[in-house]
Formats: sequence, C-alpha cells, structure tokens
Amino acid sequence: MIRERLTAAAVDYVAHMTSKSELLPAFDVGFVRSQFPAFSHHEIGRWAHLENAGGSYVPRQVIDPVTALFSNHKTQPNWDFAASLRATEAIDHSRDLMAATFNAQPDEIHFGPSTSQNTYVLARSLRHGWNDGDEVIVTNQDHEANIGAWRRLAETGMVVKEWSVDPATGMLDIAELESLITERTRLVALTHASNVAATVNPVGKVAELVHTVGGLLVIDGVSYAPHYPIDVKALDCDVYLYSAYKTYGPHVGMMYTKRSVLESAHHEGHFFNESHLSARLTPAGPDHVEVGACGGVVDYYNAVHDHHFGGGGSQTQVERISDVFDLFGVQEQFLMTPLVEFLADRDDVHLVGSRSTDHSKRAPTLAFHSGKVASARIYDALISAEVSCGHGNFYAHRLVTALGLDPDDGVVRLSMVHYNTLEDVERALAVLDEIL
Ligand SMILES: Cc1ncc(COP(=O)(O)O)c(C=O)c1O
Repeated sequence: MIRERLTAAAVDYVAHMTSKSELLPAFDVGFVRSQFPAFSHHEIGRWAHLENAGGSYVPRQVIDPVTALFSNHKTQPNWDFAASLRATEAIDHSRDLMAATFNAQPDEIHFGPSTSQNTYVLARSLRHGWNDGDEVIVTNQDHEANIGAWRRLAETGMVVKEWSVDPATGMLDIAELESLITERTRLVALTHASNVAATVNPVGKVAELVHTVGGLLVIDGVSYAPHYPIDVKALDCDVYLYSAYKTYGPHVGMMYTKRSVLESAHHEGHFFNESHLSARLTPAGPDHVEVGACGGVVDYYNAVHDHHFGGGGSQTQVERISDVFDLFGVQEQFLMTPLVEFLADRDDVHLVGSRSTDHSKRAPTLAFHSGKVASARIYDALISAEVSCGHGNFYAHRLVTALGLDPDDGVVRLSMVHYNTLEDVERALAVLDEIL
C-alpha cells in the first residue's frame, strides 16, 4: 500500500512539474545532500531527519564562515586591522544578502538572539506610540514567540483580543478577524504558516484589513521561510520575523522592519546609537560569528541555483531565490503527498490544519494525533526506527490546548524540507502503518 501511494505521488510530481514550467530542471537531491556534512556522518546520516521544523541541518556554505570567523577573525568588527576588516565584511555580506533575499534595505534588517527575544524588544518599542485602550490582535495558532510579547501589553493598559482557531481543524477564519478589527486596532500578529497547523495563512488579505484602520501587521515567518520565497514588499507587511536556524543557518533571529515603522519606533538601543536605524531594536550586540555566517544560507541557495540553472545571468537575488524555491516546492510536495494522504484517510487520526497536498496551501510539516495511541508511543516507535521527530506542543501551546489535547503528549510532528528523500518518508510510513 505504501508503494502504491509513492507511485501516485510520483505521478502527481511529473504532472506538477509539467504544468508548472517545462523549463524547470529535475531536482538533484544528491547534490543538495552533498552540501550538508550531517548526511555523511557515520551515525547521524543513518537517520531519516523529519524534525526540520525544530531545527534544520546546515550546509558547508554556513559552516565554512563559522570556522573561518572563529579561527581567524574573531575580533571586534569595524576597525581597520585585518582580522577586524574581515569580520566586518562577513557581517555586511550577511546583512546585504539577507536584505536582497527578502527584498528589503540592509538597515531594515535586525539580527537578535532569537525571534522570541526580537518580539519582546519590538513590543516594548511600539508600545511607546500607543495609548491605553488601544488594541492588539493575536491568534491562538501562533508559536508563543509571536503571542506572549503582545499579550503582555495587557499589563500596560492595552486591550488584547484573540483571533481563535476552529478547534476541530486548528485553522483560522478571516471572517472572525474582520469582526475583531476596530478603529483602535494598532497591530495584528499572525503566523505565515504555523509550526503545527502548517496551513498558509492569507497574509495579503490581513495586511489589507489592518492597514485600512492604520494598524501594523507582524508576520511570524519562522516556519514558512524554509519552504517558500519571501518578498516583504509584495507581502506589504510591517514586520517579518525569521529564525535562521530553521532555514539551514546559524542560531540567530532576524527581523525585517519596514523603514517607516522603524523611523517612528522608540529607540531601544544605547542612547548614542539612536541615529543608526539598524541598532534601534538591538539593545545588545548580536553574536558576530553567527551573523557573519548567516549569509551562507543565501550562498547555499545560490549554489543550488547555479547547479540546476547554470551560473552567470543577470537575475536579481529575489529572482534567483524564486527559482530555487520553485525546485524546493516541487520536491516538498512530492515528499508530503503520501504522508498527508495516509494521515488524512484514517478515521482514527487527526491531521492538524489543511488536508491539502498542494504546497501553496500547506507546508510539509505534518502534526497529528491518534484517538487510540498516545503521541508519546508513536514518537517512541518512530525514534526506534531512526526517524527524527518530536511530540508535544512545540511551544504552540495555546493551539494544542485549543484542539483539546494534553499539551505534554500533544501531537506527533513529522516535518520535511527539500533535502529529505522518499526513503525517509517510506520509513516513517512503515512505522505509522504498524503502530496506528
Ligand atoms: C513558528 C515559530 N515561530 C517562532 C519560533 C521561535 O523562534 P526562536 O527560537 O528564534 O525564538 C519558532 C520556534 O520553534 C517557530 O516554530
């Protein structure tokens, strides 16, 4: 039965490839995996890594600058001695590449220790511009990183409203948001695709609604970014949150903040840095090595691009990234289809979020629970078969609770990215077929 499903997925794959673009080359998963040393490791390489939504592996384009920076350039940047110059170059390279990738300006990009910390600083800063009784809207679908900081504003006199999921599906309905927005809405905080429900939310429509009343839109793109290209201008968001360690990079949080929002935001850095926009939301110095290695993520995307589409050309970084994510998307849809179908078909299993196998509607992060078997038991069986995964609430505590689950046992999560293989999926399916 599993083989049949894989064959059906392969047929879909070919149809999808053909309809998408006749020019799209076949995805070379062997090349891609050869960029990640973890897959050649004698112990780690044996595992089917399906816990990518927690943290992905890193390619050598990220590892090499970490080694170089620690070996030779681990000094204070911005001076004129050789080691400092090289450190500055690495940091500037990262900021420029990240900005180009997101279609932002370099000084609209802030690096911080994590997304959770970035939202706390941002909330503190924005609060200065708001009055008591002004309103913010959060969901109960988000990771707590994009809820907690906003909810705490209730302690300072703000009104906090919740846009709640349908407890049967874990999905959000835009009609409910429309009824929550008022003239006093100052901000909506929304995940682009939840790390548990994985359904792509209609951020364009939300931007329109919140901007009509002069409010801001903060999008958490942490679990969306490994799977799709991001153009912050096209999204028309005010803030976009990103954690590089979920997207093949080092453990650092990155935050895009629209220039007009940044210029009016209260300065949270050292007082004498107020004129530097990129220091405005960075009270502490970031980890220079990690920031310096962050650009390696884009160097990796460019290597994938050159391998599949040939080097040279006059494309912008945004266009190159778009090509690369077309390839990734086809591969991810191919991988998730048999698993989505297997889980969605069963009456005793609840797959959280959309049941679509269309990659534009849901990311390949599959969180589910069984009416009969505890998530911890399913997890144990997967681990015994060397399938990397997790179970629980994944800090989407409010979502898992809204689904009526014990947040400790919670859901089992299998999350794929483009570098996974059919063998990984097949191994997980074999375990699920037996244990469920
Ligand atoms: C959707 C989502 N948002 C935010 C975060 C938090 O990121 P950080 O660890 O950088 O605070 C995570 C981490 O799992 C996440 O999955």
